[in-house]
Amino acid sequence: MSGDLGFVHRFEPGDDSNVTLLLFHGTGGDENDLVPLGRELAPGAAILGPRGKVLEHGAPRFFRRLAEGVFDHEDLVRRTHELADFIEAATERYELDPSGLVAAGYSNGANIAASLTLLHPGLLRAAVLFRAMVPFEPEATPDLAGMPVFIAAGQMDRMIPPDNTQRLTEILTEASADVDLRWRSVGHGLTYEEVAEAKGWLSGVLPNLGPTPK
Ligand code: MLT
Repeated sequence: MSGDLGFVHRFEPGDDSNVTLLLFHGTGGDENDLVPLGRELAPGAAILGPRGKVLEHGAPRFFRRLAEGVFDHEDLVRRTHELADFIEAATERYELDPSGLVAAGYSNGANIAASLTLLHPGLLRAAVLFRAMVPFEPEATPDLAGMPVFIAAGQMDRMIPPDNTQRLTEILTEASADVDLRWRSVGHGLTYEEVAEAKGWLSGVLPNLGPTPK
């Protein structure tokens, strides 16, 4: 664990892969939570997991919310830029390949990954979003030019209405991302089958990540 670069975070170097999985935990999690998930999703990839800096009754999150599913937009935008700065600083510090930065987030972590995708196009080269919502409606459509995005959603998720995930898919698709949305008859909790699906999807995507856009 390290506390510098502005975020408490965990970094573990990869084998000989150029891929770094950026792991974004859910509300109440920390930088260690998703490490086993990351190892399963992309064996051999480096792992970088920051801890969200906002505390909600002591539970770490990546941005403030006013109520469940109602986000503090100003805080969200500020925290997204702050996280992008951290990712850039960590890329330099740990000598990561910027063209291999791939996000994997769950719930609040998926929402901050979606926000990073919309506000910093090109920073993340692919994203796996488990239980994601629309972080905000973008004023202008970003150019995500073929960015592969996997979304795993639960039809019985009580925190995330299905039409909200559907809307996120539309926003990303309008921005030219290549979205693979998978529904299952499950709730907010992640299932082993979805992790296996995401792993299969990533194994097709990771060898084909192009160079960083100019
Ligand atoms: C959020 O606040 O990002 C969503 O409500 C999901 C969550 O945190 O569990």
